[in-house]
Amino acid sequence: MFKVSIIGAGNVGATAAQYIAMRNLADVVLIDINEGAAMGKSLDLLQTGPVTSHCAHLSGASGYESTANSDVVVITAGIPRKEGMSRDQLLKINAQIVSSAAEQAVKLSPDAVFVIVTNPLDVMTQLAYQITGLPSQRVIGMAGVLDSGRFQTFIAAELAVSPVDVKAMVLGGHGDLMVPLLRHSSVNGIPALELISEARLQELAVRTRDGGAEIVSYLKSGSAYYAPGASVALMVEAILQDQNRLLPCSVLATGQYGLNNVYVGLPVVLGRSGVKRIVELPLNSSELQALQKSAAAIEKNVVVMNDLIGWGKPAIVEAAVDELPGVVVVTAPVAAIAEPAEPHQAAEPSVSAPEAASAEPAEPVAK
Ligand code: APR
Repeated sequence: MFKVSIIGAGNVGATAAQYIAMRNLADVVLIDINEGAAMGKSLDLLQTGPVTSHCAHLSGASGYESTANSDVVVITAGIPRKEGMSRDQLLKINAQIVSSAAEQAVKLSPDAVFVIVTNPLDVMTQLAYQITGLPSQRVIGMAGVLDSGRFQTFIAAELAVSPVDVKAMVLGGHGDLMVPLLRHSSVNGIPALELISEARLQELAVRTRDGGAEIVSYLKSGSAYYAPGASVALMVEAILQDQNRLLPCSVLATGQYGLNNVYVGLPVVLGRSGVKRIVELPLNSSELQALQKSAAAIEKNVVVMNDLIGWGKPAIVEAAVDELPGVVVVTAPVAAIAEPAEPHQAAEPSVSAPEAASAEPAEPVAK
């Protein structure tokens, strides 16, 4: 059996564990600062084995020892976004949590592929890349699979067809500036634009963008976790089984789409070694502009984040943190975040400074 460690045994982490176990993909270790949650949920899931015919072993702990030699490490630990809270407001607290999780996990599983889920997604993935010092091919953010799944769901409902027949891809950051590709959406090979008017498809794209917030508004407390957990499991499956799935994932751009040194949602081929390659679609100018604008917003927050963890100039972080409503910091102070032996350098923004400065600020929405 493969071994997957999931850091953060909350809603998304436990749901991902459930999908992974039920599909017999791997044994799962759940790690949570709340040890009881990790132990209780893993024991509960273990007991689904005889009932649902899976043979995955599941265990839980608060310490990282049992994560050693994982094939995949998933990081979902963090503070979830609350209603009305932007993802980017989560930045300071979740940077502390993700830094600590990534640093501890990579020491014990240096060969693992890391899948990051914590929001703000693209920024946290870049942070994990910097902290672990791993090749970017092995540090990947989960967002595009989820956002694309939402878009596909809405297209299927609109046309009253099976969601299985709908293909659609959402690129860009996991935020307000995400880029649903209308022209590339299809129903069993038929371009969606031949079946739905562009205006209506645009409405579905907007609902996709707001998809997480829509769920938060119903739940009142907490945010989506079934589709996020399933999306994690899909990526884990593609990695462990070396499936070469072509999926939108948050990955480090290295010149593709005119972007450099920024984690942003792009189409990739995903397999056992992680990202095997980034696929470059011939985007039209408005699609490309939207993608670059989305990436610029991420870069702006990466600068804030690097300031926060001491990898950049001291800065404007306090203002952002002061806006966090009702959040209690439970982790170590920033100063306690140690740099690993050979971390990656903080990325230089790939767009010019004035452009980055005019990027969208915090992106309100949803998981
Ligand atoms: N180490 C380990 N686990 C931690 C730590 C830490 N330092 N800090 C928090 N956690 C755990 C919490 O105890 C909780 O069980 O992370 C878990 C987060 O779970 P939920 O609060 O249920 O949040 P969830 O809905 O699962 O979302 C997880 O995904 O989309 C992102 O931003 C979102 O950060 C959130 C993450």
